[in-house]
Amino acid sequence: MAGNIERLKELDSEIQRLSHIAALLSWDQETYMPEGAVEERSEQKALLEGMIHERVTSLEMADIFSKLGISDSNAAVSGLTATDQAFLREAYRRYRLQSKLPTELVRKIAKETSLAVAKWAEAREKADFTIFSGNLETILTLVREKADALGYEEHIYDPLLDEFEPWMKTKELREVFQSVQKGLTALLSRITASGTKVESDFLKREYPVDKQRQLSLSVLKNMGYDFKFGRLDLSAHPFTITLGSTDVRLTNRYDPNFFPKGLFGTIHEGGHGLYELGIAPELHGSLLADGTSMGIHESQSRLWENFIGRSRAFWRWFYPQAKELFPAALADIDVATFYRGINRVEPSFIRVEADEVTYNLHIILRFNLERALVSGDLQVKDLPEAWNQESRELLGITPPDVSLGVLQDIHWSMGGIGYFPTYALGNLYAAQFFRILKQELPLVEAQVEGGNFSAILAWLREKIHSSGRVYTAGELCTRVTGESLNPEYYLQYLEEKYGAIYGI
Ligand code: CO
Repeated sequence: MAGNIERLKELDSEIQRLSHIAALLSWDQETYMPEGAVEERSEQKALLEGMIHERVTSLEMADIFSKLGISDSNAAVSGLTATDQAFLREAYRRYRLQSKLPTELVRKIAKETSLAVAKWAEAREKADFTIFSGNLETILTLVREKADALGYEEHIYDPLLDEFEPWMKTKELREVFQSVQKGLTALLSRITASGTKVESDFLKREYPVDKQRQLSLSVLKNMGYDFKFGRLDLSAHPFTITLGSTDVRLTNRYDPNFFPKGLFGTIHEGGHGLYELGIAPELHGSLLADGTSMGIHESQSRLWENFIGRSRAFWRWFYPQAKELFPAALADIDVATFYRGINRVEPSFIRVEADEVTYNLHIILRFNLERALVSGDLQVKDLPEAWNQESRELLGITPPDVSLGVLQDIHWSMGGIGYFPTYALGNLYAAQFFRILKQELPLVEAQVEGGNFSAILAWLREKIHSSGRVYTAGELCTRVTGESLNPEYYLQYLEEKYGAIYGI
Protein backbone atom coordinates (compact mmCIF):
# COMPACT_ATOMS: atom_id res chain seq x y z
CA MET A 1 0.00 0.00 0.00
CA ALA A 2 2.77 2.43 0.99
CA GLY A 3 4.48 1.87 -2.38
CA ASN A 4 1.29 2.76 -4.25
CA ILE A 5 0.80 5.94 -2.29
CA GLU A 6 4.44 6.95 -2.80
CA ARG A 7 4.08 6.42 -6.55
CA LEU A 8 0.88 8.45 -6.56
CA LYS A 9 2.75 11.28 -4.85
CA GLU A 10 5.51 11.17 -7.47
CA LEU A 11 2.96 11.35 -10.29
CA ASP A 12 1.16 14.17 -8.51
CA SER A 13 4.29 16.25 -7.99
CA GLU A 14 4.94 16.19 -11.75
CA ILE A 15 1.36 17.26 -12.39
CA GLN A 16 1.81 20.13 -9.92
CA ARG A 17 5.00 21.26 -11.67
CA LEU A 18 3.33 21.20 -15.05
CA SER A 19 0.38 23.18 -13.64
CA HIS A 20 2.74 25.80 -12.23
CA ILE A 21 4.49 26.10 -15.60
CA ALA A 22 1.09 26.58 -17.26
CA ALA A 23 0.27 29.22 -14.64
CA LEU A 24 3.48 31.09 -15.48
CA LEU A 25 2.39 31.23 -19.13
CA SER A 26 -1.00 32.61 -18.06
CA TRP A 27 0.51 35.18 -15.73
CA ASP A 28 2.80 36.38 -18.52
CA GLN A 29 -0.11 36.55 -20.95
CA GLU A 30 -2.12 38.76 -18.59
CA THR A 31 0.75 41.10 -17.72
CA TYR A 32 3.72 41.53 -20.09
CA MET A 33 3.23 39.35 -23.19
CA PRO A 34 3.20 41.30 -26.47
CA GLU A 35 -0.28 41.06 -27.98
CA GLY A 36 0.96 39.52 -31.23
CA ALA A 37 1.95 36.37 -29.34
CA VAL A 38 -1.57 35.44 -28.29
CA GLU A 39 -2.21 32.66 -30.80
CA GLU A 40 1.09 30.88 -30.24
CA ARG A 41 0.62 31.23 -26.49
CA SER A 42 -2.80 29.54 -26.71
CA GLU A 43 -1.17 26.60 -28.47
CA GLN A 44 1.55 26.38 -25.83
CA LYS A 45 -1.04 26.38 -23.08
CA ALA A 46 -3.25 23.83 -24.86
CA LEU A 47 -0.24 21.49 -25.18
CA LEU A 48 0.49 21.73 -21.47
CA GLU A 49 -3.19 21.30 -20.53
CA GLY A 50 -3.27 18.16 -22.68
CA MET A 51 -0.17 16.77 -20.96
CA ILE A 52 -1.70 17.46 -17.54
CA HIS A 53 -5.02 15.85 -18.48
CA GLU A 54 -3.20 12.75 -19.81
CA ARG A 55 -1.30 12.34 -16.56
CA VAL A 56 -4.31 12.93 -14.32
CA THR A 57 -6.35 10.28 -16.15
CA SER A 58 -3.50 7.85 -17.01
CA LEU A 59 -3.89 4.08 -16.84
CA GLU A 60 -1.21 3.97 -14.15
CA MET A 61 -3.26 6.35 -12.05
CA ALA A 62 -6.41 4.24 -12.56
CA ASP A 63 -4.45 1.12 -11.69
CA ILE A 64 -3.14 2.56 -8.41
CA PHE A 65 -6.63 3.63 -7.32
CA SER A 66 -8.00 0.18 -8.07
CA LYS A 67 -5.16 -1.51 -6.14
CA LEU A 68 -5.94 0.75 -3.19
CA GLY A 69 -9.62 -0.19 -3.45
CA ILE A 70 -10.73 3.38 -4.09
CA SER A 71 -13.87 4.01 -6.13
CA ASP A 72 -16.74 6.48 -6.40
CA SER A 73 -18.47 4.80 -3.47
CA ASN A 74 -15.35 4.39 -1.34
CA ALA A 75 -12.64 7.04 -1.12
CA ALA A 76 -11.13 5.94 2.21
CA VAL A 77 -8.23 3.64 3.04
CA SER A 78 -7.73 2.68 6.66
CA GLY A 79 -4.48 3.06 8.57
CA LEU A 80 -3.34 6.28 6.89
CA THR A 81 -2.43 9.63 8.43
CA ALA A 82 -5.02 12.40 8.06
CA THR A 83 -2.81 14.08 5.45
CA ASP A 84 -2.42 10.94 3.34
CA GLN A 85 -6.13 10.26 3.63
CA ALA A 86 -6.85 13.78 2.36
CA PHE A 87 -4.27 13.36 -0.39
CA LEU A 88 -6.04 10.24 -1.65
CA ARG A 89 -9.45 11.90 -1.39
CA GLU A 90 -8.33 14.88 -3.47
CA ALA A 91 -6.26 12.85 -5.96
CA TYR A 92 -9.23 10.59 -6.61
CA ARG A 93 -11.59 13.54 -6.86
CA ARG A 94 -9.38 15.10 -9.54
CA TYR A 95 -9.10 11.79 -11.39
CA ARG A 96 -12.87 11.21 -11.21
CA LEU A 97 -13.77 14.69 -12.44
CA GLN A 98 -11.33 14.65 -15.34
CA SER A 99 -11.86 11.05 -16.46
CA LYS A 100 -15.64 11.36 -16.52
CA LEU A 101 -15.64 14.19 -19.01
CA PRO A 102 -15.36 12.98 -22.63
CA THR A 103 -12.44 14.66 -24.45
CA GLU A 104 -14.83 15.69 -27.23
CA LEU A 105 -17.07 17.55 -24.74
CA VAL A 106 -14.07 19.32 -23.17
CA ARG A 107 -12.93 20.39 -26.65
CA LYS A 108 -16.42 21.65 -27.56
CA ILE A 109 -16.74 23.63 -24.34
CA ALA A 110 -13.34 25.26 -24.91
CA LYS A 111 -14.27 26.21 -28.48
CA GLU A 112 -17.80 27.45 -27.74
CA THR A 113 -16.80 29.49 -24.71
CA SER A 114 -14.00 31.27 -26.54
CA LEU A 115 -16.52 32.26 -29.24
CA ALA A 116 -19.09 33.21 -26.61
CA VAL A 117 -16.73 35.49 -24.68
CA ALA A 118 -16.20 37.57 -27.83
CA LYS A 119 -19.97 37.69 -28.53
CA TRP A 120 -20.71 38.60 -24.93
CA ALA A 121 -18.26 41.52 -25.11
CA GLU A 122 -19.89 42.77 -28.33
CA ALA A 123 -23.40 42.32 -26.90
CA ARG A 124 -22.50 44.21 -23.73
CA GLU A 125 -20.87 47.01 -25.74
CA LYS A 126 -24.01 47.39 -27.88
CA ALA A 127 -26.40 46.64 -25.00
CA ASP A 128 -28.10 44.02 -27.19
CA PHE A 129 -28.81 40.65 -25.55
CA THR A 130 -29.81 38.95 -28.83
CA ILE A 131 -26.19 39.10 -30.06
CA PHE A 132 -25.21 36.71 -27.24
CA SER A 133 -28.37 34.69 -26.55
CA GLY A 134 -27.65 31.94 -29.13
CA ASN A 135 -24.18 31.40 -27.65
CA LEU A 136 -25.63 31.19 -24.17
CA GLU A 137 -28.09 28.54 -25.30
CA THR A 138 -25.25 26.45 -26.75
CA ILE A 139 -23.25 26.85 -23.55
CA LEU A 140 -26.20 25.76 -21.41
CA THR A 141 -26.64 22.64 -23.53
CA LEU A 142 -22.96 21.79 -23.06
CA VAL A 143 -23.05 22.58 -19.35
CA ARG A 144 -26.02 20.24 -18.93
CA GLU A 145 -24.09 17.53 -20.79
CA LYS A 146 -21.19 18.16 -18.44
CA ALA A 147 -23.40 17.84 -15.36
CA ASP A 148 -24.85 14.58 -16.72
CA ALA A 149 -21.36 13.20 -17.39
CA LEU A 150 -20.18 14.10 -13.89
CA GLY A 151 -23.35 12.67 -12.38
CA TYR A 152 -25.61 13.84 -9.55
CA GLU A 153 -28.22 12.52 -7.18
CA GLU A 154 -30.39 15.51 -6.31
CA HIS A 155 -29.98 18.58 -8.47
CA ILE A 156 -28.36 19.11 -11.85
CA TYR A 157 -26.69 22.18 -10.32
CA ASP A 158 -24.85 20.00 -7.74
CA PRO A 159 -21.93 18.86 -9.94
CA LEU A 160 -21.52 22.40 -11.31
CA LEU A 161 -21.35 23.94 -7.85
CA ASP A 162 -19.06 21.14 -6.71
CA GLU A 163 -16.49 22.11 -9.33
CA PHE A 164 -15.83 25.38 -7.47
CA GLU A 165 -17.07 24.59 -3.97
CA PRO A 166 -16.18 20.93 -3.48
CA TRP A 167 -18.62 18.81 -1.48
CA MET A 168 -21.25 21.52 -1.12
CA LYS A 169 -24.81 20.74 -2.24
CA THR A 170 -27.40 23.02 -3.86
CA LYS A 171 -29.94 22.21 -1.16
CA GLU A 172 -27.66 23.36 1.67
CA LEU A 173 -26.73 26.50 -0.23
CA ARG A 174 -30.38 27.37 -0.88
CA GLU A 175 -31.16 27.19 2.81
CA VAL A 176 -28.17 29.34 3.70
CA PHE A 177 -29.03 31.92 1.03
CA GLN A 178 -32.68 32.05 2.09
CA SER A 179 -31.77 33.27 5.56
CA VAL A 180 -29.13 35.63 4.14
CA GLN A 181 -31.69 37.16 1.80
CA LYS A 182 -34.21 37.64 4.57
CA GLY A 183 -31.69 39.32 6.87
CA LEU A 184 -30.18 41.51 4.16
CA THR A 185 -33.40 42.83 2.68
CA ALA A 186 -34.62 43.72 6.19
CA LEU A 187 -31.37 45.54 7.01
CA LEU A 188 -31.33 47.30 3.65
CA SER A 189 -34.83 48.65 4.05
CA ARG A 190 -33.98 49.98 7.52
CA ILE A 191 -30.87 51.68 6.13
CA THR A 192 -32.89 53.24 3.30
CA ALA A 193 -35.65 54.32 5.68
CA SER A 194 -33.15 55.94 8.08
CA GLY A 195 -32.70 58.86 5.68
CA THR A 196 -29.06 59.18 6.84
CA LYS A 197 -26.90 60.79 4.14
CA VAL A 198 -23.38 59.45 3.72
CA GLU A 199 -20.97 61.57 1.72
CA SER A 200 -18.69 59.71 -0.72
CA ASP A 201 -18.15 62.02 -3.72
CA PHE A 202 -14.61 62.78 -2.51
CA LEU A 203 -13.63 59.23 -3.51
CA LYS A 204 -14.00 60.34 -7.14
CA ARG A 205 -11.46 63.16 -6.98
CA GLU A 206 -7.95 62.99 -8.52
CA TYR A 207 -5.83 60.14 -7.12
CA PRO A 208 -2.60 59.85 -9.17
CA VAL A 209 -1.96 56.22 -10.09
CA ASP A 210 1.72 56.14 -9.07
CA LYS A 211 0.78 57.31 -5.58
CA GLN A 212 -1.96 54.69 -5.42
CA ARG A 213 0.58 52.01 -6.23
CA GLN A 214 2.85 53.31 -3.48
CA LEU A 215 -0.02 53.04 -1.00
CA SER A 216 -0.79 49.50 -2.20
CA LEU A 217 2.79 48.36 -1.73
CA SER A 218 2.86 49.89 1.74
CA VAL A 219 -0.28 48.08 2.88
CA LEU A 220 0.86 44.72 1.46
CA LYS A 221 4.15 44.96 3.38
CA ASN A 222 2.27 45.66 6.61
CA MET A 223 -0.09 42.74 5.99
CA GLY A 224 2.97 40.47 5.90
CA TYR A 225 2.99 39.72 2.17
CA ASP A 226 6.66 38.92 1.49
CA PHE A 227 7.97 40.36 -1.80
CA LYS A 228 10.78 37.80 -1.71
CA PHE A 229 8.09 35.30 -2.74
CA GLY A 230 5.79 37.50 -4.80
CA ARG A 231 5.14 40.55 -6.95
CA LEU A 232 2.46 43.11 -7.66
CA ASP A 233 1.88 43.89 -11.36
CA LEU A 234 -0.80 45.52 -13.50
CA SER A 235 -3.50 43.61 -15.38
CA ALA A 236 -6.96 44.36 -16.78
CA HIS A 237 -8.64 42.37 -13.97
CA PRO A 238 -6.96 41.79 -10.61
CA PHE A 239 -5.97 38.22 -9.79
CA THR A 240 -3.68 36.09 -7.61
CA ILE A 241 -1.75 33.26 -9.23
CA THR A 242 0.39 30.51 -7.74
CA LEU A 243 3.49 29.59 -9.73
CA GLY A 244 4.84 27.44 -6.92
CA SER A 245 4.86 27.35 -3.14
CA THR A 246 7.50 30.08 -3.07
CA ASP A 247 6.08 32.24 -5.86
CA VAL A 248 2.58 33.65 -5.44
CA ARG A 249 1.95 36.77 -7.52
CA LEU A 250 -0.70 39.46 -7.39
CA THR A 251 -2.02 41.86 -9.99
CA ASN A 252 -4.19 44.94 -9.73
CA ARG A 253 -5.41 48.02 -11.62
CA TYR A 254 -6.03 51.60 -10.55
CA ASP A 255 -8.59 54.22 -11.48
CA PRO A 256 -7.20 57.78 -11.11
CA ASN A 257 -10.74 59.02 -10.38
CA PHE A 258 -11.98 56.35 -8.03
CA PHE A 259 -9.90 55.67 -4.95
CA PRO A 260 -11.43 52.43 -3.52
CA LYS A 261 -10.89 50.32 -6.67
CA GLY A 262 -7.09 50.18 -6.47
CA LEU A 263 -6.43 49.95 -2.74
CA PHE A 264 -9.21 47.51 -1.84
CA GLY A 265 -8.33 45.43 -4.91
CA THR A 266 -4.79 45.17 -3.58
CA ILE A 267 -5.85 44.22 -0.06
CA HIS A 268 -8.27 41.64 -1.51
CA GLU A 269 -5.63 39.96 -3.67
CA GLY A 270 -3.15 40.24 -0.79
CA GLY A 271 -5.54 38.13 1.30
CA HIS A 272 -5.61 35.46 -1.42
CA GLY A 273 -1.83 35.60 -1.70
CA LEU A 274 -1.25 35.21 2.04
CA TYR A 275 -3.44 32.09 2.05
CA GLU A 276 -1.34 30.42 -0.65
CA LEU A 277 1.95 31.51 0.94
CA GLY A 278 0.86 30.26 4.36
CA ILE A 279 0.48 26.62 3.38
CA ALA A 280 2.67 24.32 5.50
CA PRO A 281 6.02 23.38 3.88
CA GLU A 282 5.31 19.65 4.25
CA LEU A 283 2.45 20.03 1.75
CA HIS A 284 4.50 21.97 -0.81
CA GLY A 285 4.57 20.50 -4.29
CA SER A 286 1.47 18.35 -3.75
CA LEU A 287 -2.15 18.93 -4.71
CA LEU A 288 -2.87 19.61 -1.03
CA ALA A 289 -0.88 22.85 -1.35
CA ASP A 290 -3.91 24.85 -2.45
CA GLY A 291 -6.94 26.59 -1.01
CA THR A 292 -9.52 24.05 0.06
CA SER A 293 -12.42 25.66 -1.81
CA MET A 294 -13.15 28.87 -3.68
CA GLY A 295 -15.44 29.95 -0.86
CA ILE A 296 -12.71 29.54 1.76
CA HIS A 297 -10.23 31.27 -0.55
CA GLU A 298 -12.59 34.17 -0.94
CA SER A 299 -13.10 34.30 2.84
CA GLN A 300 -9.41 35.13 3.18
CA SER A 301 -9.51 37.96 0.64
CA ARG A 302 -12.74 39.41 2.06
CA LEU A 303 -11.55 39.15 5.63
CA TRP A 304 -8.60 41.41 4.81
CA GLU A 305 -10.47 43.65 2.39
CA ASN A 306 -13.66 44.27 4.38
CA PHE A 307 -13.39 43.09 7.97
CA ILE A 308 -9.97 44.71 8.38
CA GLY A 309 -9.49 47.08 5.42
CA ARG A 310 -12.88 48.78 5.73
CA SER A 311 -12.81 48.98 9.53
CA ARG A 312 -12.61 52.13 11.60
CA ALA A 313 -9.48 50.89 13.40
CA PHE A 314 -7.64 50.32 10.12
CA TRP A 315 -8.26 53.88 8.92
CA ARG A 316 -7.28 55.40 12.25
CA TRP A 317 -3.87 53.93 11.48
CA PHE A 318 -3.74 54.26 7.70
CA TYR A 319 -5.51 57.53 6.98
CA PRO A 320 -2.49 59.79 7.69
CA GLN A 321 -0.51 57.85 5.03
CA ALA A 322 -3.32 58.28 2.50
CA LYS A 323 -3.68 61.96 3.31
CA GLU A 324 0.05 62.55 2.88
CA LEU A 325 -0.02 60.95 -0.59
CA PHE A 326 -3.21 62.72 -1.71
CA PRO A 327 -3.11 66.10 0.06
CA ALA A 328 -5.33 67.86 -2.49
CA ALA A 329 -8.06 65.21 -2.71
CA LEU A 330 -8.35 64.59 1.04
CA ALA A 331 -7.55 68.01 2.52
CA ASP A 332 -11.09 68.74 3.72
CA ILE A 333 -12.03 65.15 4.64
CA ASP A 334 -11.55 63.90 8.18
CA VAL A 335 -11.08 60.24 9.04
CA ALA A 336 -14.67 59.76 10.26
CA THR A 337 -16.08 61.11 6.98
CA PHE A 338 -13.63 58.96 5.03
CA TYR A 339 -14.61 55.81 6.95
CA ARG A 340 -18.30 56.41 6.33
CA GLY A 341 -17.68 57.21 2.68
CA ILE A 342 -15.92 53.92 1.91
CA ASN A 343 -18.80 52.08 3.62
CA ARG A 344 -21.71 53.84 1.96
CA VAL A 345 -24.67 51.53 1.30
CA GLU A 346 -26.74 51.97 -1.84
CA PRO A 347 -28.47 49.45 -4.10
CA SER A 348 -26.68 49.65 -7.45
CA PHE A 349 -26.64 47.77 -10.74
CA ILE A 350 -23.06 46.52 -10.88
CA ARG A 351 -22.05 43.62 -8.62
CA VAL A 352 -18.33 44.40 -8.47
CA GLU A 353 -19.06 47.91 -7.19
CA ALA A 354 -21.59 46.80 -4.58
CA ASP A 355 -21.22 47.53 -0.86
CA GLU A 356 -21.06 44.87 1.86
CA VAL A 357 -24.82 44.94 2.53
CA THR A 358 -26.08 44.58 -1.05
CA TYR A 359 -23.25 42.44 -2.45
CA ASN A 360 -24.69 39.08 -1.46
CA LEU A 361 -28.07 40.04 -2.91
CA HIS A 362 -26.36 40.38 -6.31
CA ILE A 363 -25.05 36.83 -5.86
CA ILE A 364 -28.40 35.41 -4.79
CA LEU A 365 -29.92 36.91 -7.94
CA ARG A 366 -27.40 35.07 -10.13
CA PHE A 367 -27.73 31.84 -8.13
CA ASN A 368 -31.53 31.85 -8.62
CA LEU A 369 -31.24 32.50 -12.34
CA GLU A 370 -28.48 30.05 -13.19
CA ARG A 371 -30.20 27.29 -11.27
CA ALA A 372 -33.38 27.93 -13.26
CA LEU A 373 -31.42 28.07 -16.53
CA VAL A 374 -29.61 24.74 -16.11
CA SER A 375 -32.68 22.93 -14.85
CA GLY A 376 -34.69 24.25 -17.82
CA ASP A 377 -37.21 26.20 -15.72
CA LEU A 378 -36.09 29.41 -17.39
CA GLN A 379 -35.59 29.95 -21.13
CA VAL A 380 -32.70 32.08 -22.38
CA LYS A 381 -35.08 34.38 -24.27
CA ASP A 382 -36.84 35.21 -20.98
CA LEU A 383 -33.59 35.80 -19.09
CA PRO A 384 -33.31 39.62 -19.37
CA GLU A 385 -36.83 40.09 -18.01
CA ALA A 386 -36.23 37.52 -15.26
CA TRP A 387 -33.06 39.41 -14.33
CA ASN A 388 -34.91 42.70 -14.06
CA GLN A 389 -37.63 41.13 -11.98
CA GLU A 390 -35.13 39.58 -9.54
CA SER A 391 -33.34 42.92 -9.39
CA ARG A 392 -36.54 44.72 -8.42
CA GLU A 393 -37.34 42.08 -5.83
CA LEU A 394 -33.90 41.92 -4.22
CA LEU A 395 -32.50 45.41 -4.72
CA GLY A 396 -35.55 47.50 -5.55
CA ILE A 397 -34.05 48.80 -8.81
CA THR A 398 -34.42 48.02 -12.53
CA PRO A 399 -31.36 48.24 -14.81
CA PRO A 400 -31.92 50.77 -17.61
CA ASP A 401 -30.32 48.43 -20.15
CA VAL A 402 -28.84 44.91 -20.42
CA SER A 403 -25.23 46.08 -20.15
CA LEU A 404 -25.99 47.20 -16.59
CA GLY A 405 -28.11 44.08 -16.05
CA VAL A 406 -27.87 40.58 -17.40
CA LEU A 407 -24.75 41.22 -19.52
CA GLN A 408 -22.52 42.78 -16.85
CA ASP A 409 -20.55 39.64 -15.88
CA ILE A 410 -18.25 37.54 -18.07
CA HIS A 411 -18.80 34.28 -16.10
CA TRP A 412 -21.66 32.68 -18.05
CA SER A 413 -19.95 33.29 -21.38
CA MET A 414 -16.98 31.33 -20.01
CA GLY A 415 -19.20 28.44 -18.98
CA GLY A 416 -18.53 29.26 -15.32
CA ILE A 417 -21.94 28.30 -14.00
CA GLY A 418 -21.75 27.41 -10.31
CA TYR A 419 -19.00 29.93 -9.58
CA PHE A 420 -20.93 32.98 -8.34
CA PRO A 421 -22.08 31.45 -5.01
CA THR A 422 -18.46 31.14 -3.86
CA TYR A 423 -18.19 34.95 -3.65
CA ALA A 424 -21.06 35.09 -1.18
CA LEU A 425 -19.77 32.06 0.72
CA GLY A 426 -16.50 33.98 1.13
CA ASN A 427 -18.30 36.76 3.00
CA LEU A 428 -20.16 34.30 5.21
CA TYR A 429 -17.10 32.22 6.09
CA ALA A 430 -15.07 35.40 6.70
CA ALA A 431 -17.61 36.63 9.27
CA GLN A 432 -17.68 33.27 11.03
CA PHE A 433 -13.87 33.07 11.17
CA PHE A 434 -13.43 36.72 12.16
CA ARG A 435 -15.75 36.32 15.12
CA ILE A 436 -13.57 33.55 16.54
CA LEU A 437 -10.40 35.47 15.69
CA LYS A 438 -11.64 38.39 17.79
CA GLN A 439 -12.50 36.10 20.68
CA GLU A 440 -9.07 34.47 20.61
CA LEU A 441 -7.17 37.72 19.97
CA PRO A 442 -8.93 40.24 22.21
CA LEU A 443 -6.40 42.97 21.36
CA VAL A 444 -6.99 42.76 17.63
CA GLU A 445 -8.60 46.17 17.26
CA ALA A 446 -5.75 47.94 19.04
CA GLN A 447 -3.26 46.01 16.89
CA VAL A 448 -5.00 47.05 13.67
CA GLU A 449 -5.06 50.61 14.91
CA GLY A 450 -1.30 50.37 15.37
CA GLY A 451 -0.79 48.92 11.87
CA ASN A 452 0.40 45.68 13.40
CA PHE A 453 -1.04 42.64 11.65
CA SER A 454 1.40 39.95 12.73
CA ALA A 455 -0.88 38.33 15.33
CA ILE A 456 -3.78 38.24 12.85
CA LEU A 457 -1.63 36.65 10.16
CA ALA A 458 -0.17 34.12 12.61
CA TRP A 459 -3.71 33.16 13.68
CA LEU A 460 -4.93 32.79 10.09
CA ARG A 461 -1.87 30.71 9.21
CA GLU A 462 -2.28 28.37 12.12
CA LYS A 463 -6.05 27.94 11.86
CA ILE A 464 -6.70 28.17 8.12
CA HIS A 465 -3.76 28.61 5.75
CA SER A 466 -1.32 25.95 6.90
CA SER A 467 -3.62 22.97 6.33
CA GLY A 468 -4.17 23.73 2.62
CA ARG A 469 -6.64 21.16 1.29
CA VAL A 470 -6.20 18.66 4.12
CA TYR A 471 -9.66 19.53 5.45
CA THR A 472 -12.68 20.13 3.26
CA ALA A 473 -14.33 23.55 3.61
CA GLY A 474 -17.00 22.12 5.90
CA GLU A 475 -14.46 20.31 8.09
CA LEU A 476 -12.27 23.39 8.32
CA CYS A 477 -15.18 25.60 9.29
CA THR A 478 -16.17 23.22 12.10
CA ARG A 479 -12.57 22.84 13.32
CA VAL A 480 -12.01 26.60 13.49
CA THR A 481 -15.41 27.80 14.68
CA GLY A 482 -16.99 24.76 16.37
CA GLU A 483 -19.97 24.66 13.98
CA SER A 484 -20.86 24.35 10.33
CA LEU A 485 -21.49 27.34 8.08
CA ASN A 486 -23.89 29.71 9.84
CA PRO A 487 -24.96 32.89 8.01
CA GLU A 488 -26.13 34.55 11.24
CA TYR A 489 -22.60 35.80 11.95
CA TYR A 490 -22.45 37.75 8.72
CA LEU A 491 -25.81 39.32 9.44
CA GLN A 492 -24.72 40.20 12.99
CA TYR A 493 -21.50 41.76 11.74
CA LEU A 494 -23.41 43.94 9.24
CA GLU A 495 -26.05 44.84 11.79
CA GLU A 496 -23.44 46.11 14.21
CA LYS A 497 -21.27 47.94 11.71
CA TYR A 498 -24.01 49.56 9.62
CA GLY A 499 -26.27 50.14 12.58
CA ALA A 500 -23.59 52.49 13.89
CA ILE A 501 -22.94 54.18 10.53
CA TYR A 502 -26.63 54.73 9.76
CA GLY A 503 -27.80 55.35 13.30
CA ILE A 504 -30.39 52.56 13.26
CO1 CO B 1 -11.24 37.02 -4.84
